[in-house]
Amino acid sequence: MKIGMLYSRVRLDEKFLLEEFRNRGIEVERMDTRCAIFNITDFEKMDYDVVLEREISHLKALYSLKVLNEMGVKTVNTYHTANTCGDKVLTTLALTKHKVPSPITYVAFTPEEALQAIEKIGYPAVLKPATGSWGRLLSKVNDKETAESILEHKVVLGSYHHSVFYIQEYINKPERDIRAFVVGDEVIGAIYRNSPHWITNTARGGVASNCPLTDEISEICLKAAEAVGGGVVAIDLLEDRGKLLVNEVNYTMEFKNSIAPTGVNIPGKVVDYVIEVAKR
Ligand SMILES: Nc1ncnc2c1ncn2[C@@H]1O[C@H](COP(=O)(O)OP(=O)(O)O)[C@@H](O)[C@H]1O
Ligand SMILES: [Mg+2]
Repeated sequence: MKIGMLYSRVRLDEKFLLEEFRNRGIEVERMDTRCAIFNITDFEKMDYDVVLEREISHLKALYSLKVLNEMGVKTVNTYHTANTCGDKVLTTLALTKHKVPSPITYVAFTPEEALQAIEKIGYPAVLKPATGSWGRLLSKVNDKETAESILEHKVVLGSYHHSVFYIQEYINKPERDIRAFVVGDEVIGAIYRNSPHWITNTARGGVASNCPLTDEISEICLKAAEAVGGGVVAIDLLEDRGKLLVNEVNYTMEFKNSIAPTGVNIPGKVVDYVIEVAKR
C-alpha cells in the first residue's frame, strides 16, 4: 500500500498522524509542497493508493488536491470538499442546499450593498473574510458607524478577497461553541471551546473541554459533512437558544488540543479512514 502525505510543516498534528501510520506498519511517503513540481500538461503516472492532505496554506492545498485528483489519485480530503470548506460562501451555499441550519448570511460585493445587508440583519452583525481561519479578521459590528468604518477599511486596505463581503447574523451563544470531528460517516467526538470572548477559537485562547455527543450533534454534523462532500472534517456548531446551527466546516482539521479532552485517538481514527479509502 502506498500512502502519501502532503504537507509543508510537520506540526504536532502531523507527528501524531505519522506515528499512527507507523504503528500500523505503514511508512508514509512525505510530499513536501515546498519541493513539489507537477507537470500539468502531461499527467504523471502516480501510483499512490491515497494521499492525506495536511498543507496549511489553503491555496496550495487546493491546487495540489486538484492536480492529484485530475491525475486519478484519491485524496483525503477531495478537492471538492476542500474547495467548499475553504470558502465560507461556498460552505453556506452547500449547507443551505442540503437544508442544514446555519446563521442567516448574506453576500455582497460593494460596501454600500454590504451596509444594506448589515442593516437588514440588524446589530450586532458579523463580518468575515470568505477565506480564512483561526478567527482572523472577523468583526462583530455593533452599530452603523462601526459598520461604515470597517467596510471603508476593507475597501481601502483590504487585499482583493476583501472585496467580497460575507455578512452574518450574530448568534448570542453561551460563552462557548462546539467543535465536532467527523471521520467518514462517524462523528468521533466533540469539544466545547470556552471563552469569554465571542471568538472562541483555541488559536485565540478558547479553552477545550469535552462535549458529550448527543444524537442532535451527531445528526447535524453528519448532514453538514455530507453537504460539503464528506471526508475528514471538523464542524463548528453554535448553540442558538437550544438549537444547533452549523457555523463552518474545516477540511484540514487540527486536533492536537482535542485528544485529551475527548479521550479519543483522533489521529488513529483518521489514519484508519485513510487506509480504508486506499483499499476502495
Ligand atoms: N455568527 C456568529 N455568531 C456568534 N459567534 C460567531 C459567529 N461567527 C463566528 N463566531 C465565533 O467566531 C469563531 C470563528 O468563526 P469562524 O466562522 O469559525 O471563522 P474561522 O474560520 O476564522 O475559524 C467561531 O468559532 C465562533 O466562536
Ligand atoms: Mg472556525
